[in-house]
Amino acid sequence: MQYRQLGQTGLRVSEIGFGCAGFWGKKIFSDTDAIRLVHTAAERGVTFFDTGGSYSGGIAERRLGQALAGMPRRQDIIISTKIGTCLDRYGRAYKDFSPRQLEAGVENSLRSLGVECIPLVQIHGPYMHDLTDEVLQLLTRLRAQGKVLHWGVNSPYEAVIEHVLSLPIFETVMINYNILHPWSENLIQSLNAKRIGILAAMPLAGALYHPRGLWSVRDIWYALRAHRNYPADKKQAKRYRFLNTLPGWTAAQAALAWVLSNAHISSAVIGTTRLKHLLENLEVSGKTMDAAILQRIRRAQQS
Ligand SMILES: NC(=O)c1ccc[n+]([C@@H]2O[C@H](COP(=O)([O-])OP(=O)(O)OC[C@H]3O[C@@H](n4cnc5c(N)ncnc54)[C@H](OP(=O)(O)O)[C@@H]3O)[C@@H](O)[C@H]2O)c1
Repeated sequence: MQYRQLGQTGLRVSEIGFGCAGFWGKKIFSDTDAIRLVHTAAERGVTFFDTGGSYSGGIAERRLGQALAGMPRRQDIIISTKIGTCLDRYGRAYKDFSPRQLEAGVENSLRSLGVECIPLVQIHGPYMHDLTDEVLQLLTRLRAQGKVLHWGVNSPYEAVIEHVLSLPIFETVMINYNILHPWSENLIQSLNAKRIGILAAMPLAGALYHPRGLWSVRDIWYALRAHRNYPADKKQAKRYRFLNTLPGWTAAQAALAWVLSNAHISSAVIGTTRLKHLLENLEVSGKTMDAAILQRIRRAQQS
């Protein structure tokens, strides 16, 4: 596994991170299988694990906390979580970026993860107006209290990320960065110039270019999620079917290698519930992709 600097945080993270979210955090997916994946990832050198207080109805973060006990290479592990999305009593997610709720979110994450300090906490999906002076003061205080080491923002919106550039408290951003969403090169350069660590969420683009059989509950769950949340991506992904025919690469590996070919990305945080997929994805670290394939991906992006 190769490691990269996370902006100016002083942290070095594995260039492939593991996302504890989605079906991985569902009750129907067993604790044993979920924790085995996390431990295998850590054994193979993954040091960056990302989750969120609201992920999978709150189960994902607690599950990662459970996995931390007995984690191989525990001293090297860097956890990232998210606050700002809350769950109502029916488990439905809603946004609340009030300082009171954000502070409660941090306390809740400390408890769920079973730690006294969280290396990285990200504000989950705020708009610009949510990042008020009161919020920024709270973040400064929580960092001074030693509860959070570094602050980041997770957003799919370029305008929000541009705004974050002007707020020095934030040291990282997490963006949905993948072959379908290459983002503006100027923005990536600006983040890099300010030494803001860039984390790629959804780096496999949900593997939408890969024909998926509906053989199990998880496959149906992912297919429904794509249908509901990413209809445009599903359509666009058809242009990338050629990834399934590249010699020496599986389609998911090629998509991941494209993300890692950008040296400004600190870690590509993959999601998987299958050991075979995990191992396949981890093989990509340190493997260089031919310029001709990168070129072909670029052409598909421009078409
Ligand atoms: N999605 C978002 O909007 C979002 C937002 C913020 C943060 N994040 C972070 O990003 C992480 C990853 O996001 P994600 O899981 O939505 O997207 P992803 O990593 O791009 O894709 C995950 C999908 O790809 C499949 N997959 C994984 N490896 C594969 C392989 N080798 N071959 C074929 N299929 C493969 C997985 O199915 P299997 O389980 O069958 O492998 C799953 O359906 C999350 O866990 C979270 O930490 C995501």
